Amino acid sequence: MDVLSSLSDLRTARLSLNGTVGLVPTMGYLHEGHLSLVARAKAETQHVIVTIFVNPTQFGANEDLSKYPRDLERDLNLLRPLGVDVVWTPTAEIMYPPGYQTWVEVEALTRPLEGAMRPGHFRGVTTVVAKLFNATQPAKAYFGQKDAQQAAVIRRMVTDLNFPLEVIVCPTRREADGLAMSSRNTYLSEVERKAATVLFRALSAAKDLYENGERDAEKLRGKMKEALASEPLASMQYVSCADYDSLQELDVVTGKALLSMAAYFGKTRLIDNFVLG
Ligand code: PAJ
Repeated sequence: MDVLSSLSDLRTARLSLNGTVGLVPTMGYLHEGHLSLVARAKAETQHVIVTIFVNPTQFGANEDLSKYPRDLERDLNLLRPLGVDVVWTPTAEIMYPPGYQTWVEVEALTRPLEGAMRPGHFRGVTTVVAKLFNATQPAKAYFGQKDAQQAAVIRRMVTDLNFPLEVIVCPTRREADGLAMSSRNTYLSEVERKAATVLFRALSAAKDLYENGERDAEKLRGKMKEALASEPLASMQYVSCADYDSLQELDVVTGKALLSMAAYFGKTRLIDNFVLG
């Protein structure tokens, strides 16, 4: 496994890979969710490149960039047994050289949900992911359903900018009690960690209603709000029942829909989602 930092080393390593490349972009502090993307890439492509880069441009001014958990040695030890060819760990100066002024922006899809709560976040994500695609030239790139809007936005960018690659979205990996795995879970205190299972319980309650025939989106949102309100340590930011493709809020669920939510547990902001239909 080559661990590289400079862009020229990455380019040289990429040129020596014959056949299809699968890319797994990450911000590190890897968990089973990330590793499931790597395993899928390994199964579907001839070579796997993992990138680890805590992308400053996708963090808001009041977000956790400097506190974001980092442990490169631990990450590399997790990746070594998986047969990864190259790990690229560029610096901020490589990704954003002095004078940087070029951005990739997806419009309507980035406005609701996470985009509404985190202005500029998706502009940072799409810009860095476009740059990672250019640098690594993958045939397939792997993303998690955990970040449903991010996956939708990247799909849109790939179509709109004619990137010659396939976006593969992999299922959300969860802890035994339902909490979606996330690098940010390490911020939670013991009581917050227990309280955080309310996200899964709220989504499950709304899904049960849906499976019992409820199609009124406001009732599904109401069920999620009610569940979140029952957990004193959870502070709800939004709940949503939206059209799966446009991410616009629904009145009635007719086709595929996305149930999603964001809530604070202390200072830690967590998101989760389920797909309906
Ligand atoms: P990061 O949060 O490190 O996540 C990297 C990838 O792992 C993303 O595609 C994310 O959706 C996926 N992932 C996270 N938790 C998961 C889980 N529990 N199950 C399955 N997949 C999971 O998302 C980012 O980094 C960044 O925005 C990035 C795309 C790297 C751009 O900077």
